[in-house]
Amino acid sequence: MEPWMGLGYSDKALSAFLRRAAADRQVLFASAPGARRPLGVLVLQPGVLLGDFVALLAVRPDVARHGIGRVLMEHAESQTFGVRRWLFVSADAGNDGALRFYRKLGFVRVGRLPDLVRDGHTEILLRKGKSTRG
Ligand SMILES: CC(C)(COP(=O)(O)OP(=O)(O)OC[C@H]1O[C@@H](n2cnc3c(N)ncnc32)[C@H](O)[C@@H]1OP(=O)(O)O)[C@@H](O)C(=O)NCCC(=O)NCCS
Repeated sequence: MEPWMGLGYSDKALSAFLRRAAADRQVLFASAPGARRPLGVLVLQPGVLLGDFVALLAVRPDVARHGIGRVLMEHAESQTFGVRRWLFVSADAGNDGALRFYRKLGFVRVGRLPDLVRDGHTEILLRKGKSTRG
């Protein structure tokens, strides 16, 4: 799914990344009773710039806009703000949906990272502070 397809990630690379993250207990899943596949997944990397970093957040397109992304982010926030000051996220500058979603959740843009993931693509870095939790 986008944005990973457009950025050139393969299924194999993403699977390997998720397996490593799961082994390090960095993965949160959203699931429904009886569902065979997760509805959404979030990878939370600890200890980045006095906070944690959401390295991946994906909700299945067929269940988007049902509050699943928000619930996953709320779990990440509880985990992070128990021990750290900042929660960081990033999204491709062209990913308007994700940027609107993060702003709705109270994240504020703090930087631009040109060519971070791929040449010619700019990643927008956003953060939310413990004290600004809604
Ligand atoms: C972005 C994403 C995680 C949002 O998850 P979701 O479960 O659809 O979002 P939610 O239903 O929890 O929405 C929470 C709020 O954000 C808003 N929102 C969600 N997606 C939005 C969009 N595309 N445009 C504008 N607002 C959006 C919702 O309206 C909601 O606000 P409300 O509570 O006032 O109604 C999901 O669409 C996704 O996986 N996208 C593809 C992957 C991606 O871009 N990941 C993030 C960046 S790497």
